[in-house]
Amino acid sequence: MAELGLSVVRIGEFAWSRLEPQPGQLEFEWLDRALDTLAAEGLGVIIGTPTATPPKWLIDQYPDILATDPSTGRVRRFGSRRHYDFSSADYRRESLRITAMLADRYGQDPRIVGWQTDNELGCHDTTLSISPAAVAAFRVWCAERYGSIDTLNAAWGNVFWSMEYRDFDAIDAPYGTVTEPNPAHQLAYRRFASDQLIDFHGAMVAALRARIDQQQFVTHNFIPMSDTAADNAALAAPLDFPSYDSYPLGRTDEILHDRVPAEEFAAVQRTGHPDLTAFLLDQVRALGDRPFWIMEQQPGPVNWAPANPSPLPGMVRLWTIEAFAHGADCVSFFRWRQAPFAQEQMHAGLRRPDDAPARRWPEIAAVIAEVQTAALSAPTTVQAPVALLTDVDSEWITNIERQSADYRLGNVQLEFYRAFRELGLNIDIVSANDPLDHYALVAVPCLASIDTSFVERAKASKAQIIFGPRSGSKTREFCIPAELAPGPLQKPLGLVVTEVETLRPGARDAFQWRGQSYRTSLWREHLEVSQQHVAAHFDDGGPAVVQVGSLSYLASLPDRDFLVDYFAAFCKQRGIATQRLPDGVRLRRRGDLTFAFNYSHSSYTIEVPTNSEFVIGNSSIGPQDLAVWRNTNNKTSGN
Ligand code: GAL
Repeated sequence: MAELGLSVVRIGEFAWSRLEPQPGQLEFEWLDRALDTLAAEGLGVIIGTPTATPPKWLIDQYPDILATDPSTGRVRRFGSRRHYDFSSADYRRESLRITAMLADRYGQDPRIVGWQTDNELGCHDTTLSISPAAVAAFRVWCAERYGSIDTLNAAWGNVFWSMEYRDFDAIDAPYGTVTEPNPAHQLAYRRFASDQLIDFHGAMVAALRARIDQQQFVTHNFIPMSDTAADNAALAAPLDFPSYDSYPLGRTDEILHDRVPAEEFAAVQRTGHPDLTAFLLDQVRALGDRPFWIMEQQPGPVNWAPANPSPLPGMVRLWTIEAFAHGADCVSFFRWRQAPFAQEQMHAGLRRPDDAPARRWPEIAAVIAEVQTAALSAPTTVQAPVALLTDVDSEWITNIERQSADYRLGNVQLEFYRAFRELGLNIDIVSANDPLDHYALVAVPCLASIDTSFVERAKASKAQIIFGPRSGSKTREFCIPAELAPGPLQKPLGLVVTEVETLRPGARDAFQWRGQSYRTSLWREHLEVSQQHVAAHFDDGGPAVVQVGSLSYLASLPDRDFLVDYFAAFCKQRGIATQRLPDGVRLRRRGDLTFAFNYSHSSYTIEVPTNSEFVIGNSSIGPQDLAVWRNTNNKTSGN
């Protein structure tokens, strides 16, 4: 490890059965030996709390630790990982016990640089459980939130289909019903489940903090934001910084294989999708105010996606440097040695199962040296000129109420993000609570439930704020606002959504903007609006884009061509330089460095300001290659 140039190692994240092979009988000797070996080579250690894998004896002792699968109603059994319920009081106590014991022993140990809490919270759809403990906790949660059962009945609209309850104890989890359960009930359950996870995690962080030295950090390895099924900002709040497990090929295959045209997919299957990978990195960056870490990066084929291709030569290097470009401070690979046994035996490591260097070893050795020489983790990032607003409630609302089998908020967000990327811009990911003042443009693909204070801040900010359809379409309790959509946006935009329709893929509506024709798909809203505010009309005469001062509203999901042109127009107006980039070529600035990545299959010559000095490569960037230059005129601010 030291020879390869690694400086930190994460260990122990699933080691409970070795740390405590029998109830109460702790064995630290093996871990101490490992720590000595690593410390002797100057490697810092991150210990993972082993709570994602409670051992069999513990499950036998407290069977209520196991969660109940919402879709089947069956108890999820022992035999893999994450087999625990966030609502189990027994598990809460036991997980804090093992955490405290580890922290008592290693919390002041100089060999330990930090802690990882649990492992990928929410992964494998584990946030939601309908165990008896979860349902009991949900009833308490409802009582606290609504105060009286009449309030809950009214808020959810339970008069519909005679769904009214007489007391909180009558409420069940919204699963296993004949046809769809009440969306308000579903939303409440997701909010509840997220709160349970955050609470469980918060207690674990507190147990660590009470025992560990201030030099040791606490982080958590996140998965893609929507996969946690939790409020990630709240989850990250008690951490020193967030970490992310980056699997560019696995995620591209898992998330996009049936969502992008086959030809586009074929081009990215061995490189990863350039915008998806970056979008995921930017979302993690948004969770902290310190640089994030990549706790796990794919070093070869994985085993868990529908297809598991091998990265093209150069891609592991490219992803590594790209993580730094997006604000990472450390990239760590998963895993060291491919395990010859058990579930992940087909998952590549840096070493093969026979302990010989794996195929990507020379590439990884080279990129580690390159990162060190080029000092890529500059402390500052450039203030992004534009932002994209994401929101966990909107994710849940649009997922619960599909209206079209093909609407996925993640896809909609990715299209907006891609449009910014095509213009060569740095993008911040913000939430509805974040300040909007730093930005020239804020894209809001969908903010389903909007409160008036957000509208006030939006109006007061200097940014052009572009709302996608469905924004303001629901109340906090998942009903249609009394004044109709877009709720509190109605007045400032002078528009009312009078009807919503969704269309099959392939059915396209055309609209005109500034003399050019564009198309939309999937989602179409019919608006009542004063003509003077309509910036673009559909060919059938309906309003397509409404613009009142610094607020814009899109009545449909326009193709990316429109988003690029529309965003570019505002950038131009506000003096923000843009650079049109082809698919696969992307830019990102950090500090005084500009990074250019070529995910594509042909060379590209990038325009570089005259006073630039190349740190890596040059202006002609080969396929799966990159360039980094220092521009002494770049303004830097913040971190
Ligand atoms: C991550 C996880 C690791 C390993 C890896 C395989 O989700 O944290 O333990 O399972 O994926 O790619």
